[in-house]
Amino acid sequence: MDIYDAIHHRRSHRLYQPDQPPREVLERVIEAALWAPSGVNLQPWELTVMAGQVRDDFVALVSRAVKYLMPRLKQTELPEAVQEQVMKFFKNLGGAPVVVAVTILKTAEAAANKTLIQSGAALMQNLLLAAHAEGLGTCWMTGANYLEDEILKFLGKPERELLAITPIGYPAKEPPAPARRGREVRWLGF
Ligand SMILES: Cc1cc2nc3c(=O)[nH]c(=O)nc-3n(C[C@H](O)[C@H](O)[C@H](O)COP(=O)(O)O)c2cc1C
Repeated sequence: MDIYDAIHHRRSHRLYQPDQPPREVLERVIEAALWAPSGVNLQPWELTVMAGQVRDDFVALVSRAVKYLMPRLKQTELPEAVQEQVMKFFKNLGGAPVVVAVTILKTAEAAANKTLIQSGAALMQNLLLAAHAEGLGTCWMTGANYLEDEILKFLGKPERELLAITPIGYPAKEPPAPARRGREVRWLGF
């Protein structure tokens, strides 16, 4: 798949088919994610790929984040139907058969923390694009971070920082592309 095609047509998927993607496909996606750039090549990430009962237990935990999300969503201008869709999605992550959790190293130093987060974000984007190239859907999610401590405990990584999670699976429908804002790009000296 052409890189521009992948960038433009990747979507956040919130409804999945139950079929589990083959392990070798998931491994290709993870391998591509791990080739992300990182500050001083620290590669501060760790990934946990969950399926089966572990996935179910993890999703049951994540679904409790709804309690924290609901009041925040109500403050947005999102139409009520969309708010309900987001809530529903959190209950079972759209039925995705696989969920990936990404943690990064933790530091109290603000500048270093930015580098670690950006490195993790580069990995996330690689993962999303590679999954898309394999015909898989994903949805980068930070909504579960309201339960960070509990999730890190679940993952057995209490000393790390939770970056994000994403469900992975074959999409059950093709969502429309949410509009992008006008370009806020300045070209100087051309
Ligand atoms: C850092 C980050 C956090 C996000 N967290 C959530 C989330 O918690 N729940 C969710 O449903 N979508 C989440 N999204 C997905 C965005 O809503 C989505 O990317 C945006 O609406 C644009 O849609 P698209 O990805 O289909 O282009 C997140 C995306 C990013 C980059």
